[in-house]
Amino acid sequence: MRSFMGRDILSLKDFERGEYFRIFEVAKELEPIARNRRNVDLLKDKTLVVAFYQPSTRTRLAHEAAMHRLGGHVTGFADAKMTRAGDWYQESIKDTVKMLEYYGDVIVMRHFMQGAPAEAAKWATIPVINGGDGWGEHPTQILTDLYTVMREKGHIDGLKWLAVGDMRMRTMHSLAYALTKFDSEVTFVSPPNMSLTDEFKAEITEMGLNFKEAEHVEQAIGDADVILVEPVVQPDYTKARDERKGDVGGTPANYKITKELLQTKAKHDAILLHSFPRMDEIPTDVDSTHWARYWEEAFNGVVMRMALLALVLGAME
Ligand code: CP
Repeated sequence: MRSFMGRDILSLKDFERGEYFRIFEVAKELEPIARNRRNVDLLKDKTLVVAFYQPSTRTRLAHEAAMHRLGGHVTGFADAKMTRAGDWYQESIKDTVKMLEYYGDVIVMRHFMQGAPAEAAKWATIPVINGGDGWGEHPTQILTDLYTVMREKGHIDGLKWLAVGDMRMRTMHSLAYALTKFDSEVTFVSPPNMSLTDEFKAEITEMGLNFKEAEHVEQAIGDADVILVEPVVQPDYTKARDERKGDVGGTPANYKITKELLQTKAKHDAILLHSFPRMDEIPTDVDSTHWARYWEEAFNGVVMRMALLALVLGAME
């Protein structure tokens, strides 16, 4: 297995199967620190630089919380408008990163432009973690989801997935790549104008993913062990910031997981994941059902980032 030390985490496409399990092992080992709300000194000599060119609640703060839990330091920006990249200069990724690499030891970057973290990694002499790039990928989110499945089910192989939402979403791309490394079946359900592209389908077929598409969640929910949901009513991820204007409408029943649907059609032991933010695709009365695991996912998101930071910074091998 390749070492994680000094490595960029840009995509799950090139992740090896054994690497998932190593990350899960490290996460399990570090989990008690977060569970007991302790801070330790594992990364006390290290600094995380956050470079967020797009809004975020979870990804940035979970990385920051993870760094604090491991005793490290945090600097950076949550709004590129307050930097020279977001003002008159429109400073390039290269010039920005050639500065940031002296301010810390690892960069986590979110960007509205697909490929921006990879561009940063080309120039940075420190590891770059992709915190979501346009419609590209969101590797740390899907690592969080897979870790949640491991914790809840004890295994990933042999499970059937239902993935619902906008298939242009970066999470869906990382999910599809990741599942090619497991014995998994996945059914994708999305509006026709948000479906997987032919090019992407050809790519994941070539990579061996066992998948199909359906029009309505009702067609697939009965078989699913893991139900992963994303919005279909959502902003344009290629913009630095997309303000909501007026009524954006609701989620059609085809892409909605209601309490009634779960009670009448879902397996009793299925688990329901959502990376959040949500619109109305999972109504709030689902939150207290035994299917919901998104609050556990939130906790696991910190633990997963602790594991990744410890690994890429060489504090764990
Ligand atoms: N899940 C996720 O990426 O959330 P944020 O946009 O709040 O980071």
